[in-house]
Amino acid sequence: MHQGSDMDNRNTVLLVMGSARAARNCPAITAWVEQLAHRQAGFDCEVIDLAAWTLPAGDEPGIPALGHYAQAHTRAWSDKVQSASAVVFVVPQYNWGYPAVLKNAIDHLYREWRNMPTLIVSYGGHGGTRCARQLRRVAASLKMRVANTSPALVLPDDVIRRGIALRPQHDLAAFERTVGRAFKELAALVAGTEAPLSRLRRTLLGAWFAVT
Ligand SMILES: Cc1cc2nc3c(=O)[nH]c(=O)nc-3n(C[C@H](O)[C@H](O)[C@H](O)COP(=O)(O)O)c2cc1C
Repeated sequence: MHQGSDMDNRNTVLLVMGSARAARNCPAITAWVEQLAHRQAGFDCEVIDLAAWTLPAGDEPGIPALGHYAQAHTRAWSDKVQSASAVVFVVPQYNWGYPAVLKNAIDHLYREWRNMPTLIVSYGGHGGTRCARQLRRVAASLKMRVANTSPALVLPDDVIRRGIALRPQHDLAAFERTVGRAFKELAALVAGTEAPLSRLRRTLLGAWFAVT
């Protein structure tokens, strides 16, 4: 699964928006990421808005690791994730971590994440590196294959504190190259053509994050 075996599905990437907040910046940032994914790696993406998915916390009687889902919405979420060849989390930092809505969506499933080529794009006042680290630890433990490059987009102070509208093409221009490199790494993960050194680095990083 997720190893470039299904050529028809190979370029379908889920862009999961990590914020469900009112007046969030996430849709504008995700749209910017989406056009780069297409331009730099030829990916066709589907944006997942977790605010539009009904995934009530704790409504599954069994543990997700067993894969027996009682709720139709959990089965739909499982089907959606399984249909993807890769996942990109576009995620803000909230109080040094990543938002509960994303943890909840991850925790509804288990085996579906295994081996999934994954990219973490974080954002925040300082780029959201702490939330990316926290998410990488969870992803590594779920045995997701996370791209080594994890773009950390620094949002202007005016956008965060004064509610000025984000202009991604202008405000995020400095991060285009890093996002492009990250998508190339993700494409190699999907196609199974990852360079040996990159694979070694990813394996070591994953092991480190899974045990620390
Ligand atoms: C609950 C909350 C906690 C936040 N904590 C942080 C933080 O720890 N570090 C940071 O750089 N920005 C923090 N911010 C600012 C966010 O990075 C910024 O508001 C961003 O736009 C949030 O993403 P969203 O608008 O898509 O929800 C926080 C914002 C919120 C709403």
